[in-house]
Amino acid sequence: MTLQTDVFDEWAAQVRAVRSGRWQPERDLAFWREKAAGYDAGQPSLPNTVTWLRERLAPAHSLLDVGAGTGRLTLPLASEVQQVTALDHSPEMLAVLRSKNPPAQVNLRCQALGDALRDPTLSPHDAVLSAWSLAYLPDLRGALTGLLRLARRDLFVLEDDGLGSPHVTLRRTLAGQPRPQRAPSLHRALKALGEEPELHRIGEVRELTFPHTAALLAQARLPLPEAEVLEVLQPYLTAVKDGWRYRWTFDVHVLHVRKAHS
Ligand SMILES: C[S@@+](CC[C@H](N)C(=O)[O-])C[C@H]1O[C@@H](n2cnc3c(N)ncnc32)[C@H](O)[C@@H]1O
Repeated sequence: MTLQTDVFDEWAAQVRAVRSGRWQPERDLAFWREKAAGYDAGQPSLPNTVTWLRERLAPAHSLLDVGAGTGRLTLPLASEVQQVTALDHSPEMLAVLRSKNPPAQVNLRCQALGDALRDPTLSPHDAVLSAWSLAYLPDLRGALTGLLRLARRDLFVLEDDGLGSPHVTLRRTLAGQPRPQRAPSLHRALKALGEEPELHRIGEVRELTFPHTAALLAQARLPLPEAEVLEVLQPYLTAVKDGWRYRWTFDVHVLHVRKAHS
């Protein structure tokens, strides 16, 4: 069995084993239909990642953001390029992006990646970005091959470090459902396709505040007594005048493929 078969088969098996069944497009679309309105409030902004990408985008003419969602990265990057395609299969996520009045060079395209890759009207862009948008695609080979074809100069694939917030990590550990580490598989998959992706880890900070302990416990949703929750989260907690400050750091993993001719 070749390395290629291993990584792509392993990925497909992992994706199809996810209990939510989101590898079925209608399930993923239903998920985003429900989550779209609240997505931004639950996500950290990524200032260091945006700065890092901005430095590498210029002087790209065009950017294709695959799984652009509500534009968390699309919008702060749009000023660096003359033409942006924000592709997403969820009309609700794109509706949130649209409600932010994106600049004129941002073209919203509501289409599934698989369909887009077969659509001759989607032409290559200088840079292609995929941030947290491949996790439920069983056909990773098809997706990455297509993204590499669409990227004239650079492909950026972003995933997190698989850790997430301390309380979610602990909740998953207690439930025996550790979060899958996707960045190493994506790295292997790109190598299996003959690329030499550079892996960059970009540190980001997340901070939440809670007016009182009950609000912190409600967010943490840990099956532990209050004293234990406070003890396990203690390294991340600071008592402030109006409750708690909860702060942790995490790494964004960026796989950067520079096309040979760039
Ligand atoms: C976790 S969100 C990430 C959004 C954005 N990239 C960000 O970092 O905030 C994943 C997005 O990918 C989109 N997506 C997932 N599978 C897709 C597919 N097959 N084709 C197009 N978009 C897809 C979802 O609709 C969702 O908006």
